[in-house]
Amino acid sequence: VSALNFSLGLTLGAALFFIGAGAVHWARTLMSDVEVADDRHPIEATPEVKAQVMADFAAGAAESAIGRRKLIRNTMFGALALVPLSGVVLLRDLGPLPEKKLRKTLWAEGKQLINMNTMKPLRPEHITVGSLTFAMPEGLDPEAHDFQTQMGKAALMLVRIEPDDIKDKRQRDWAHEGIVAFSKVCTHVGCPISLYEQQTHHVLCPCHQSTFDLSDGARVIFGPAGHPLPQLRIGVNSEGNLEALGDFDEPVGAAFWERG
Ligand code: FES
Repeated sequence: VSALNFSLGLTLGAALFFIGAGAVHWARTLMSDVEVADDRHPIEATPEVKAQVMADFAAGAAESAIGRRKLIRNTMFGALALVPLSGVVLLRDLGPLPEKKLRKTLWAEGKQLINMNTMKPLRPEHITVGSLTFAMPEGLDPEAHDFQTQMGKAALMLVRIEPDDIKDKRQRDWAHEGIVAFSKVCTHVGCPISLYEQQTHHVLCPCHQSTFDLSDGARVIFGPAGHPLPQLRIGVNSEGNLEALGDFDEPVGAAFWERG
């Protein structure tokens, strides 16, 4: 087998070499190297030529008798109309439709915010000025098989901002004593946001440097992201722990098909 492979490789190499050598020889000795100018001419056909083409087409159609053989003609058109259906069958192989799965996260009214470092419920006093705190919804089991999927949608970051520094009125209403909660998932292509600049309240996505202003509705102030970060409305429950008052105001993640 190895001798056969060796001789195949050798003969294939020799064949390619001689084809190349022949092409070079053709170009150097047989092809003319005189430059020939070919003036442009009108591309549009003359009326006579057009009339001739139409006459030929009509004659060809008449000869084929397609007009008279209705069964053949109709089955041919029917078959052509059915061809696109094969694409539908191919697309079905991509799996079930996502339906509402991409629009919803595990956040819901009354779900407590769990600190991702301590795995304990967060209280307002745990959120200090100048720090970025990450949270996940209560009841999300790190051992569960879909933990990464759920976490990828529900990951939350919290910062405390002087209420007077919050420019957006709705954002102020959705905060609790200056604590604002936004999705941690960048709206460009979904990297986790991780850098916070306390003086400006800007957060930076390390992947392509999109920068969001958390004091102004997480508006994009730099970079390729096309949308602000979705906000989560938060409050405090009877035990004094931070809780969600609903789901995010918009689908999280990579611009979500322009939020369609
Ligand atoms: S994923 Fe955040 S800027 Fe690209």
